Amino acid sequence: MSYYEIQGGRPLEGRLEIHGAKNSVLPILAATLLAPGESVIENCPRLSDVSATLDILRLLGCRVEWEGDTVTVDASALRACCVPESLMREMRSSVIFLGALLARVGEAELFYPGGCELGPRPIDLHLAALRTLGAEILEEQGSLCCHRGRKNPGEREICLSIPSVGATENAMLAACGREGTTTIVGAAREPEIVDLQNFLLAMGARVCGAGESVITIEGGAPLHPARYRVMGDRMAAATYLCAAAAAGGQVEIAAVDPNTLTAVLACLSQAGCRLHTGEGFIALEHQGLLTGIPPVRTAPYPGFPTDAQAVLMAALAGGRGSTMFVENMFESRYGHVDELRRMGAEIQIDGRVAVVTGVGRLHGAALRGTDLRGAAALVVAALGAEGASTLTQLRHIRRGYENFAGNLRHLGAEIREFP
Ligand code: UD1
Repeated sequence: MSYYEIQGGRPLEGRLEIHGAKNSVLPILAATLLAPGESVIENCPRLSDVSATLDILRLLGCRVEWEGDTVTVDASALRACCVPESLMREMRSSVIFLGALLARVGEAELFYPGGCELGPRPIDLHLAALRTLGAEILEEQGSLCCHRGRKNPGEREICLSIPSVGATENAMLAACGREGTTTIVGAAREPEIVDLQNFLLAMGARVCGAGESVITIEGGAPLHPARYRVMGDRMAAATYLCAAAAAGGQVEIAAVDPNTLTAVLACLSQAGCRLHTGEGFIALEHQGLLTGIPPVRTAPYPGFPTDAQAVLMAALAGGRGSTMFVENMFESRYGHVDELRRMGAEIQIDGRVAVVTGVGRLHGAALRGTDLRGAAALVVAALGAEGASTLTQLRHIRRGYENFAGNLRHLGAEIREFP
């Protein structure tokens, strides 16, 4: 069983380049299906979620090559439109292949991704969006059989009652393959959606509006393969910044747009960190204990991101003063709290609300990762704690962080990985 051994209390110093964004690269890789030929995706992070996506592309008949941080996908000859249950279970976001396959071949056979460690994760909005595009979808015992359905050229409007990131992306991909104009109203505004739009534009698609809540797609035009560089991972950046805030020190996190992390940077600044940003970098300096801050409420972009809730909470738990967190995006995203309590953290939970009371310093403990960001949060806490910690269930970390322990060591952390 692989695990980390972490000695807390070492300040972090130095500069780190952030890898490509997991939440961008997954839909972008699915989007390579939209055009026959070789697309080249640069800044592709080595993550288990990326490997799972590439496995799906291979299974569908693509030729996939990974060289350095560049992935080439040749989607010339597709031979299947079915994603097996085992791969669907491995990664919830594989549901994005619905939109991509419908756009390219007009058919898709997938399995329900089901719930996950964050609670139930329905895909009703994805399915409703595809149905508005004319798709016929048969749901049977966990499987989904989709067909492009009747031709309905003209204008259609998809209204999302929640600005779901995945549903917005699925609708964008499917709409590229549908003649006529599709408008997505109530679209998610996350920077990763802008990244997907930029890749689609590079493929010759006619799409505009990403980053705002109305996205318009003129579908039906043949697309061509493209070369594209994925944006930096703002959630990985937030994690390293919270680690430096918890452990103290002075770091520069590069290859990430600070404008995509405004809400997180505001919290770190209120907690006592000194921040300096410029084009493509964020510098953070902190000594001593973090202080409690006004309520942190997770919300769709540009609000405070749910993916940064756990890492910020972990940093504040070892500070002083109280902070209230309200998790509005997912039902059960406090899996890390029990583990933080083992380190001496004082956290009260009542439904979606968690109140953290800083205890000065946490102490090391034997920890178990519960989910991707929750596991990273435990590392953040351990780096700021007194004494040694161990962390198991590293598979969660590998889903979203490339060379996590190595990068932290590069910043001066004492963290060892055992296979
Ligand atoms: C994406 C991100 C994830 C992030 C989340 C919220 C990827 C690969 N993952 O996940 O890291 O935490 O956005 O920023 O990009 N919902 C429904 N019905 C649906 C779809 C969603 O009720 O059909 C609800 C969800 O249960 C959740 C909320 O909408 O409460 C937001 O979810 P969504 O934006 O869809 O998250 P994902 O795209 O799955």
